[in-house]
Amino acid sequence: MLFSRVGVSKLCFLLSLAFCAFLLLLIPGLQLPLRHVEIPKPRPHSQSPAGDAGRPGQLLGLATGLHLNIRASAAGDTGATPPSRTLRSGEADSSSSAVGSGGTFARNGQNSLQALDGDARRAGPVRSHLRDQLQLGDIFIAVKTTKKYHKSRLDLLFQTWVSKAKEQTFIFTDGEDGELRRKAGDNVINTNCSAAHTRQALCCKMSVEYDKFIESQKKWFCHVDDDNYVILPSLLRLLQAYSHTQDVYLGRPSLDHPIEAAERVKSDGSVSVKFWFATGGAGFCISRGLALKMSPWASLGNFISTAEKIRLPDDCTIGYIIEALLEVSMTHTWLFHSHLENLQRLPANSVLRQVTLSYGGYENRRNVVSIGGGFSLAEDPSRFKTVHCLLYPDTNWCPSKKRP
Ligand SMILES: *[C@@H]1O[C@H](CO)[C@@H](O)[C@H](O)[C@H]1NC(C)=O
Repeated sequence: MLFSRVGVSKLCFLLSLAFCAFLLLLIPGLQLPLRHVEIPKPRPHSQSPAGDAGRPGQLLGLATGLHLNIRASAAGDTGATPPSRTLRSGEADSSSSAVGSGGTFARNGQNSLQALDGDARRAGPVRSHLRDQLQLGDIFIAVKTTKKYHKSRLDLLFQTWVSKAKEQTFIFTDGEDGELRRKAGDNVINTNCSAAHTRQALCCKMSVEYDKFIESQKKWFCHVDDDNYVILPSLLRLLQAYSHTQDVYLGRPSLDHPIEAAERVKSDGSVSVKFWFATGGAGFCISRGLALKMSPWASLGNFISTAEKIRLPDDCTIGYIIEALLEVSMTHTWLFHSHLENLQRLPANSVLRQVTLSYGGYENRRNVVSIGGGFSLAEDPSRFKTVHCLLYPDTNWCPSKKRP
């Protein structure tokens, strides 16, 4: 009897405690920690995998020549170049850890554009639903050319991909050309640099490209050459996986090991530095956040003096400023292509998922991507028209849909 009365009062006491706790939870001030949980975490950016996790990877890369950035594979670099993929043993690990570190958006953050073919399911970039979609207008695309190629190379670009990105594509050249001016207006920039294919002249153009990008206020700087086709949907998809406010340097390494140069900017040249650089002929992209940090060595002619100090070409100098001076790791991607590689080796079913393509080369005019379509090799030796018509079949000069 007594025992059960104690039990009942104990129960009442516990119930009132529980009720008090419930009331406490209703006080708005105490709900903050609860609401905080609902705030989406900032999208993981390149710095965490590329900067923190990527550094040890790069040290490994220095030793073994096998460097692969987690983000590069996370961002859709799948099956692009199987021959090189097999060389890169770290890749399997990095794609699985990308899913782990990339958070919950890795699987379902896919863009419909990724469904270009069946492999796309592996290519889901890490990205938040809540973030604004990156627009083509956010990208500054610099095309480097020279006066003698205005007709033979630029006309093809204007006919194809540039026609889909007129507003944000800027042509950096070295001579006035009335016809080009009429076609592209203020988007043609006469750098007044020498037309010679020398290190100084190329660095002079890169310097002007950099300054114009900074002026433009756009989120991303992408540099390509006049023999590159830019697959705009792929470019958007790639950049969408990163934040322009973070330090991002995306491109294709031209070598399988970092370059070594005497350090003549921070020291007297008695020590050497090792760094990766993205090959300019394949194109590369830099986030605005990183570009702004490059300013002391890149803006208003400083790029030319930096390049002179280390005596390296324009693309190496970019890599030097980013990797050696700013200590930001380049994100390696095999989605960019230059004429220096064997383009025929690119599997036909992956061509449209690449970011840049190229054609030709010094010795091999037939070095083109192997892709079939409405144009023969004689009609379309670079294959750019064929690629363009596969991407934009409604273009008025594309073969009609009656062809398979
Ligand atoms: C090149 O020279 C022209 C004529 O002097 C000038 O208007 C233009 O701004 C110069 N270009 C650059 C990038 O400085």
